[in-house]
Amino acid sequence: MNKRQSDRGIQDIQAIARSYLKKILKPGDIVIDATAGRGRDTVFLAECVGESGKVFAFDIQEEALLSTKELIEKQGLAERVVLIAACHSEIRKYVADGLAAAVFNLGYLPGSGKKLTTKADTTVKAVVETLYLIRENGIIFITVYRGHSGSREESEALLSFLSELSKKEFSVFQGIYLNQGETSPYWIMIQKNRRIINESPSAEKNPGTDK
Ligand SMILES: C[S@@+](CC[C@H](N)C(=O)[O-])C[C@H]1O[C@@H](n2cnc3c(N)ncnc32)[C@H](O)[C@@H]1O
Repeated sequence: MNKRQSDRGIQDIQAIARSYLKKILKPGDIVIDATAGRGRDTVFLAECVGESGKVFAFDIQEEALLSTKELIEKQGLAERVVLIAACHSEIRKYVADGLAAAVFNLGYLPGSGKKLTTKADTTVKAVVETLYLIRENGIIFITVYRGHSGSREESEALLSFLSELSKKEFSVFQGIYLNQGETSPYWIMIQKNRRIINESPSAEKNPGTDK
């Protein structure tokens, strides 16, 4: 990050997320980048988890995975990253329980002409699956963009699902710019407050049902 970017304070939605993640992530942690894109979040997460940690980075576009691969190799972080060419809704096929954090940076690959974007149904499914995999006090950080086609449905589906989660199990926090109009980006932070004893995860089970 150059000086100008780092000086933007709360204008920079990613900087807010990163300062919190930096505080809570420890060497050896296992984390997810659910939308690898150009690899900037993957690099940030790989730096946070150190040499003994691991980042599982998902994307469904070859162009994104190639960009991320190039960036992590350039930064000397490739050993800490597992790149996965799959939809993030399939996360439980690839990653085990006990994640310290997961980052979703929704929308389209920057510089790709918006031809492929994250979608309401797969995004909500991916968040549901990630809720099971996150450890106690683990964090899911989601940045939601609302300016492109399909983004409104995605935003509404996420808010509707997350608003129903049990407050005992999860704290769900929304950060939104009140003075930037209806299509400005916003973020959501979810913390798993406690681990449910005898939890037996299934793709069908809704983590919010014992509210
Ligand atoms: C806004 S970009 C991510 C930016 C990225 N985190 C970075 O630091 O550059 C969104 C990415 O999500 C990816 N994506 C879209 N649908 C997806 C899905 N179902 N599973 C995984 N990735 C997906 C897109 O291909 C795109 O690269």
